[in-house]
Amino acid sequence: MKLQAVLFDLDGVITDTAEYHYLAWKQMADHIEIDIDREFNETLKGISRMESLERILIHGKRERDFSGEQREALAKEKNDHYVSLLTHLSPENTYPGILELLEQLNQVHIPVVLTSASKNAPQILKSLELEDKFQYIVNPDGITGKPAPDIFLKGAQAVSADPKYCIGIEDAQAGIEAIKAAGMYAVGIGEERLLSIAGADIVYDSTAKLDLYSLINAASLAS
Ligand code: BG6
Ligand code: MG
Repeated sequence: MKLQAVLFDLDGVITDTAEYHYLAWKQMADHIEIDIDREFNETLKGISRMESLERILIHGKRERDFSGEQREALAKEKNDHYVSLLTHLSPENTYPGILELLEQLNQVHIPVVLTSASKNAPQILKSLELEDKFQYIVNPDGITGKPAPDIFLKGAQAVSADPKYCIGIEDAQAGIEAIKAAGMYAVGIGEERLLSIAGADIVYDSTAKLDLYSLINAASLAS
């Protein structure tokens, strides 16, 4: 495989902010008397803020109870809490192996792209001091969200890479589906069972197991 780009999700791949999203949604949901658990949370991973809120309201059978304005207020409540959890984020919060992988990719001049649905992503990369490792950050505004392939296709196009020679790395089922729909090799981080169902080509239970040369080998064998 002539690897042309690696596209990274952020929350749950580069750092543990997927957990913060869960805690912030859980508190907001409690507030409107909707019970969410970790299993349901898997269906929120990779999904935009407003779409996640909609899914929570449907889950609690309360989708008719809130106006557009009230939904905006609920989303703001969740985001304010989430952002307050980010204040202590520092380079030490980068998941194991990620900095090394980014540096290896930079050294061999393989473009690195961020394909996160989060509007908070640029701020998080800054706190982790990782912004200069990325050649391109896709702005999720106005792009059809995961599981649609659009964000990954946009990222590949931005660095002139052919999707079939790209690797995408994701912790979310919706994200793995998006990578596969874009025609890329999908690396899952997390639970094998959940991510294989979504179509992951390979799953690691920890980012510590990511290594550029084993990724290239695995992707070559698959193609
Ligand atoms: C994704 C997360 O990366 O970003 C989702 O997996 C989150 O949980 C989405 O809802 C949007 O994030 P934000 O920061 O714009 O609310
Ligand atoms: Mg994620």
